[in-house]
Amino acid sequence: MTTQVDRPVVASDAEQAAGSARWAHRHLLDVDGLTRADIDLVMRTTDEMHEVLGRPIPKVPALRGTSVTILFYEASTRTRVSFEVAAKNLSADVVNIAASTSSVTKGESLVDTVRTIEALGADMLVMRHAVSGAPYLAAEVFGGSVLNGGDGWHGHPTQALLDLYTLRGRLPGGSLEGRKVVILGDVLHSRVARSNIWTLTAMGADLWLCGPTTLLRGFEAWAARGAAGRRFTVTADVGAALRDADAVMALRIQRERMAGGLLPSLREYAARYGLTRERLRAASPEVIVLHPGPMNEGVEIAPDVAVDPRSVITAQVANGVAVRMALLYLLAGTHHDAASRRELS
Ligand code: CP
Repeated sequence: MTTQVDRPVVASDAEQAAGSARWAHRHLLDVDGLTRADIDLVMRTTDEMHEVLGRPIPKVPALRGTSVTILFYEASTRTRVSFEVAAKNLSADVVNIAASTSSVTKGESLVDTVRTIEALGADMLVMRHAVSGAPYLAAEVFGGSVLNGGDGWHGHPTQALLDLYTLRGRLPGGSLEGRKVVILGDVLHSRVARSNIWTLTAMGADLWLCGPTTLLRGFEAWAARGAAGRRFTVTADVGAALRDADAVMALRIQRERMAGGLLPSLREYAARYGLTRERLRAASPEVIVLHPGPMNEGVEIAPDVAVDPRSVITAQVANGVAVRMALLYLLAGTHHDAASRRELS
């Protein structure tokens, strides 16, 4: 899906070389509209937020006077809570709305809900929705900034950016260039995989998607045609995928999105594709293990692998706060007076 309301902004070569690219996106609907310079800016801003989080009082006035509404139509722990913590760390006013307790249950449309939230003073809207594309519709009617916290099977941009930040922090030299990164599991239903394909290939990773063929449908064609010169490999051969891998991300088997017949059984999936210590022997000895969560331990990832010293799963969660602080900060700058929001001290 391409962004209808937020065209990619390509920084000039000079800006990229100087590292001075400026953020010019009003919304964050997915990562496919971000340039490499944009991604680098998010990473650098996240470093700054990381420094803020290391202070005795991890709070700055950058978004004082800004109202952030968090509207989730689907369950969430990590994304919802970390957006709330991030916004509060930036001194924003935060309103939480669970669709299950709102007038949505009385038949109110998404558009009416978004207009109501804006009338109540929201400047920024963080939303999750079970329907792919819902945040794009919200962005058409909302006067402020929309941040996608996950829409259907389509995209999860903040997850992809925090995954990237976590990988950069662990890989020698902080670079993904030429690194073999494997995404293993239920790729078909995964918005995390779809967003990660864009960011990881943008940063030069050698990306492999692996899972049962029924859960890879459509991705072979995408890989074959490439995407703006980016290439990745799609395979059902878990041994080939994991061989010498620098990083592997296990994906949750999304039982709630699974139509009948895609998997014989969870037990068979675990036996053939579950990420176990035995399977990880084929990978680099320093392999980095990721999982976006929530995990089905014993299905896509063995419990001992989840807590293995090579696992960065809790670091992913922690980095989610800094990345979301960075994104709120950058997006706020596209519709607020810069002088009033630049305070990080
Ligand atoms: N990774 C992720 O989106 O987790 P939540 O569903 O808990 O937000």
